[in-house]
Amino acid sequence: MKTSNPPENPIGVFDSGVGGLSVLREIRHELPGEDLLYVADSAHAPYGDKPRQMIESRSIAIVEFLLSQHAKAIVVACNTATGAAVETLRARFSVPIVAMEPAVKPAAKGTKSGVIGVLATGGTLGSDNFVKLHERFGAEVNILVQACPGLVEQVEAGDLSSDKTRALIKKYLEPLLAQQADTIVLGCTHYPFLAPFIQEIAGPSVVIIDPAAAVARELRRRLANAGLLSVESRAGTERFWTSAKPDKAQPVISQLWKVDIKVSSLPNLV
Ligand code: DGL
Repeated sequence: MKTSNPPENPIGVFDSGVGGLSVLREIRHELPGEDLLYVADSAHAPYGDKPRQMIESRSIAIVEFLLSQHAKAIVVACNTATGAAVETLRARFSVPIVAMEPAVKPAAKGTKSGVIGVLATGGTLGSDNFVKLHERFGAEVNILVQACPGLVEQVEAGDLSSDKTRALIKKYLEPLLAQQADTIVLGCTHYPFLAPFIQEIAGPSVVIIDPAAAVARELRRRLANAGLLSVESRAGTERFWTSAKPDKAQPVISQLWKVDIKVSSLPNLV
């Protein structure tokens, strides 16, 4: 798809649902003057247990939508969609595309016990990208992986702190802690919203790593290199779309974004 890219155009960000808002908030912090578009594909969440093909075609359709809204760059704010589709997206679209990677590298550098835990979806842990990451750092440190079915759904429901959510976190975390993991990588963009409870259960000596701030810095670098950083001096704006029912999504997105915002219905894409 051909696009022209004036620097005042917005940045398009998407996720299977509301998890990518944890990346969006870091982008807002890093790039206060940029206009941001966010698509939550919540009608199809979780991506983590869906076939790769389906995630790939949703990702293509969402990027096409964001480009139709004049996005000058794309952030795949979803580890699962990155694993399933980032190569295809980069081959197909000419705008800069920034994506997620579970933060195994900094975790491997920082661990003292030599054991790190990675919390992610089954889709991410089974992806070629993750297998390569595991091969690269698995010789240096013991990498324990843990899929977390059910956690994405809790965040999608805006249920960050109920007994059910805490019980799920405990169930997934305790085996990693029992094996001396001293560093926990949040390999799914939904999980940073649960970070306070993950930290509480893990204890203060365990380091929790969320790569979102690093992704926002990478986005800034990519925009700068492409001459696409906005020169506007006003505060940037945000627009939100969901593939779920907007009146259901609006309260959860507002809760996580900490501002009462408007959410539009994503048009049928495929
Ligand atoms: N937020 C997601 C990720 O980073 C997607 C989780 C899902 O939909 O299963 O992997």
